[in-house]
Amino acid sequence: MTFKKNILCIGAGYVGGPTMAMIAHKCPQYKVTVVDINPTRIAEWNSDDLPIYEPGLDEVVKAVRGKNLFFSTEIEKGIRESEIIFVSVNTPTKTFGAGAGMAADLQYWEKTARQILQNSESNKIIVEKSTLPVKTALAMERILTSTGNEVRFDVLSNPEFLAEGTAIKDLENPDRVLIGSRETPSGLKARDELVEIYANWMPKDRIITSNIWSSELSKLVSNAFLAQKISSINAISALCEKADADVTEVARAVGMDSRLGSKFLNASVGFGGSCFKKDILNLVYLCRYYGLEEVADYWHGVVGINDYQKERFVLNMMNAMFNTLAGKKICLFGFAFKADTGDTRESPAIFISKRLLEERAELVITDPKALDNAKTDLDGVVGKISYINDPYEASAGCDAIAVMTEWNLYAQLDFEKSYSSMVKPAFLFDGRNILDHKRLYEIGFNVFPIGKPPMTHF
Ligand SMILES: NC(=O)c1ccc[n+]([C@@H]2O[C@H](COP(=O)([O-])OP(=O)(O)OC[C@H]3O[C@@H](n4cnc5c(N)ncnc54)[C@H](O)[C@@H]3O)[C@@H](O)[C@H]2O)c1
Repeated sequence: MTFKKNILCIGAGYVGGPTMAMIAHKCPQYKVTVVDINPTRIAEWNSDDLPIYEPGLDEVVKAVRGKNLFFSTEIEKGIRESEIIFVSVNTPTKTFGAGAGMAADLQYWEKTARQILQNSESNKIIVEKSTLPVKTALAMERILTSTGNEVRFDVLSNPEFLAEGTAIKDLENPDRVLIGSRETPSGLKARDELVEIYANWMPKDRIITSNIWSSELSKLVSNAFLAQKISSINAISALCEKADADVTEVARAVGMDSRLGSKFLNASVGFGGSCFKKDILNLVYLCRYYGLEEVADYWHGVVGINDYQKERFVLNMMNAMFNTLAGKKICLFGFAFKADTGDTRESPAIFISKRLLEERAELVITDPKALDNAKTDLDGVVGKISYINDPYEASAGCDAIAVMTEWNLYAQLDFEKSYSSMVKPAFLFDGRNILDHKRLYEIGFNVFPIGKPPMTHF
């Protein structure tokens, strides 16, 4: 079969894999190839056991894989044969040198740019899918035009707004798709080619366009606003605990104001995921770079409250359990940074685990999808940790359960059964406020939600 165009995506991660699977699924006229430097990841994408868990992903991949969706390690061949190249490599926070702990580490990104340049024999559209500091497209353009050869590159910004756990739903029906381009005739032509792809399944009014810098910045700002909303309610949860208010009641009253909206107002142990912290720090770094210290400090506070909330959770546990955790067995319900994903990057559970182990507690960790990642995250950490799939078995013999992830299955457990096999007094710390606290209290637990008065038997 001949295809209308060849699309390549460099980076087969949480974004590259699902995004390209959706494009292939909705656009049978395009051939979509996803490449990666990691051969294990590519082998997994080609197997029955995909490298990431996302509801609905298996079905979409299996419907199109081998037809117009291909996973490969042949990056250079892929570059040569494609007209449109999405770049979706990771852009973690820099850990060394200038901007360490703040700025984005662009080494993978730059390596990709050079590889594209070296292997291109025909004109290409390059699409930034990774989240990048504003003006990265300019650096990309400079690298791509550095040899002065005849090949023309148009760089577009098309940030991805999907959320892990709902990626397929988000890709199928996104609130918006944003495409930033140069406002030159060739930039606008490239933009229209990308619009044409998305228009295969999206209403045109949800495909918005902007200048390239606004597009790059919009992604950082979106994540900063989302994280800020979480940190705002989490900050209020601390006050609620002191003032005998109930954060769920406060959030309901506040969220019904249509100017604010009710989403992202669930108080919790803190936000995680690979993006929020990294993108805010990136924004803070940019502000400092431009001398905007007040703006930088304002956004940095969002990360500060998140760190505070995680530490506060540990201190609350210690305080409740008679000021010592040494030798106590604590069961963590969930390790993923949110429900419906196996991803544990920046999960609050990592910080909480390390802190509890520092306090010499013993940990039992259970999670329906994230145990392998949890083992990697805690590899080499000193202390006693076991990993058990079944939540009843995991909590048996423990002094406390701490809910880390809002997996639906935890709300449906028979807590009488868990309680009967736990050490007494038994404690339950609900880091996601997903359980029926009154019922747990009646069973016999001492219950400590977030931002609500505790319910104790002493
Ligand atoms: N995860 C999310 O929910 C999400 C959402 C929106 C945007 N983003 C952004 O998308 C980008 C990718 O995120 P992710 O979560 O998919 O990361 P990821 O780490 O899961 O995937 C990145 C992949 O790129 C590959 N890679 C790195 N350098 C390469 C190179 N030179 N050539 C080929 N492959 C290379 C890695 O092996 C890895 O498989 C980041 O910039 C992130 O901020 C992520």
